[in-house]
Amino acid sequence: MLVQPPVGKATLHLAVLGLADCEINGTRVSPDTLVPGWSDYRFRTYYRSYDVTHLLRQGANAIGVTLGNGWYCGYVGLLARQNYGQHPLFALSLVDSERAIVCTDSEWHYNDHGPIVENDLLMGESYDARLELGSWTSPDYNVEEWHKALIADTPKIAVEPAISPAIRPQETITGSLVSFDTPIVGMSRKIFDFGQNLAGRVRLRVKGWRGLNFMIRHGEMLEADGKLHTANLRTARATDNYTCKGDGWEEWEPRFTFHGFRYCEISWPVLEPVEKKVELTVEATVLHSDLSRIGIFECSNPLLNQLVSNALWSQRGNFLDVPTDCPQRDERLGWTGDIQAYARTAAFFYDSDTFLRQWLASVRDAQSLHDGAVPPYAPYLSIWNLVDGGPGWGDVIFVAPWTAYLCYGDTAILSENFAAMLDYLAHIERYNCKDGIRCYAAADFHKACAGKGAFDGFGDWLAVDRQGNYLTETSSKALIGTAFHAHAAEITARTAEVLGEDAAPYWQLHARIVEAFRKNFLDENGRLVASEQTQAAHVLALHFHLVPDHARQAAGDRLVELLAENEYYMTTGFLATPYILAVLEDTGHLDTAYRLLLREEFPSWLLPVKSGATTIWERWNAWTPEDGFHREPENTSFNHYAYGAVVAWMVTALAGLELDPAEPAYRHIVFKPRPGGGITHARASLQTRHGHTAIAWHLGGEKNDTLHLTLEVPEGAYATLSLPPEYKNTASERIEPGRYELTATRA
Ligand code: BGC
Repeated sequence: MLVQPPVGKATLHLAVLGLADCEINGTRVSPDTLVPGWSDYRFRTYYRSYDVTHLLRQGANAIGVTLGNGWYCGYVGLLARQNYGQHPLFALSLVDSERAIVCTDSEWHYNDHGPIVENDLLMGESYDARLELGSWTSPDYNVEEWHKALIADTPKIAVEPAISPAIRPQETITGSLVSFDTPIVGMSRKIFDFGQNLAGRVRLRVKGWRGLNFMIRHGEMLEADGKLHTANLRTARATDNYTCKGDGWEEWEPRFTFHGFRYCEISWPVLEPVEKKVELTVEATVLHSDLSRIGIFECSNPLLNQLVSNALWSQRGNFLDVPTDCPQRDERLGWTGDIQAYARTAAFFYDSDTFLRQWLASVRDAQSLHDGAVPPYAPYLSIWNLVDGGPGWGDVIFVAPWTAYLCYGDTAILSENFAAMLDYLAHIERYNCKDGIRCYAAADFHKACAGKGAFDGFGDWLAVDRQGNYLTETSSKALIGTAFHAHAAEITARTAEVLGEDAAPYWQLHARIVEAFRKNFLDENGRLVASEQTQAAHVLALHFHLVPDHARQAAGDRLVELLAENEYYMTTGFLATPYILAVLEDTGHLDTAYRLLLREEFPSWLLPVKSGATTIWERWNAWTPEDGFHREPENTSFNHYAYGAVVAWMVTALAGLELDPAEPAYRHIVFKPRPGGGITHARASLQTRHGHTAIAWHLGGEKNDTLHLTLEVPEGAYATLSLPPEYKNTASERIEPGRYELTATRA
């Protein structure tokens, strides 16, 4: 499309259903990729605006857009293609300070015979360089042979400005050759290792001959015999193809797909005489939403540092516009339970405020169709005929906004989601709750609610016994459900207080749920009843303050007993594991917390680390040295952040950088280091809304009995210091902005 030069500043607004890359005079308008990301396209899409003044020149200009299928009309989750529409669509306007220079209309031309011959997020992209169109966005390009643009009916959905940063390339990693074998007759094959499991794309540099096709497959692991492990991708083909045009070095990276991988296998046919040599190098481009990195943790234990790096990389791999479960197999859904568990860690590593805010609109869109039920994943499409996420999943509507409020002080995210919180509470009360018990197990009750969409949930998902068998039923779903329901009512009440709404009804609801919990699950001494003697039940009851104060210590002691009886095998899953260390520490069992954190045998955080993991695995025993891959490879992702939620404890307790809910966004910083586990130094730093804060400690003295502390408090904030009881606290009550060096000696 030919366009006139601008008067003053020129801004391009681009709205898409599908994916689009826009270029002006041969230059892409932005490094953003996979634009516009994934929203519930039945309700809305987000447009992006770019300053393109520098790309326009006097005289004629040309603008062009390349379209891809993306989530809109490509494969999504376990569904077939075209879930929202049949073809990608876009609308564009280029405006300057006086007028619209160009808009999408029937003057545009299109060509559907370009070099991208296939593109799909799950399946991959195929590119035939012989079909390249040349300088097709230069003003003198002849489009006479192209078709006249097709004008689609305007979809009746909202088109809103994006508030979350777009997905962008973040870094490149060079691949190293790990094997060079040719077991397939007539094919050459090389496998490259990027040393890091990631989400992104392979950039190929090749020298071949015209028509030579390179096939690029992706995998997170290698099999014992060196082959690429692809069983866990299920139906995601995750395969790209590049066909050479054959004039020297050629460079290519797909633009409308991404894969989850650490390794790639590149193969090509050997049909030409061997003297026609193929040369190739590969790099991986790491992609994720372009959020600001704000939090750093480091300590003296290299295994723990690797664990933190693994969580960070799992977040990178699963923060591509939507917080997903995994980036590799045919799932990649915005599972609400996973981010519910991981939100606090996510909010530490990256400023996730607008990312969560934008995604929560997809949660609410699904909710609006299902009578207030919060979906198991968002954007929602019906895959399992399940409309409610149930305990721990649906609860994201409370936990995600509240976490963003605590970490960033964002009240907008609370006001945007307050009505949705109320709707979900009402849904639960109406369809899935009886006498204060959520997921009440009586058969007649369930019959009465059949078809209303109430769901008892996934339990403490992926909790396993010592043989690695599922344990989802050991803590009753009613206990898990009621514990989360109490937490939900509490967050709603606190949200109402922040927003100046009447909080009393939600505090009353909270009191009723707590009472019901105690009546059903605690005995007269405040101990969990015989049928609920599980680690998870104790963790949830303690963390959500459902055990009366007088019985709290005994519950903490009992949790330690249960762990000891089980030789410190954790039988907790996605829902209870994030809090287990915190409740142990809180009830005076810091040593047990460290014992679990530093454990290296199954099940533990460090077994995958010891086994070479570079991301968090979906399950503790996704791969073990003894047994190799888990027996259900189709449900074994090597990039699932949920268990990475432990980083929040490492930051708040091990290093000791905590916030105060009463003065959120680190306006009041609570330094509360809890050294232990033989760790001799630790530090955490964070770019808060008030500025940079940090704590660093190391142990010194002959018996490592002196704690040396460095504290940093930004302007606009203040801090308090809480040392473990065995240290004589030398700090003042209130620490004003500044940098401090302190020491404390163990009594
Ligand atoms: C996903 C999980 C998700 C779960 C629900 C799985 O397939 O990968 O992370 O939360 O389903 O139970």
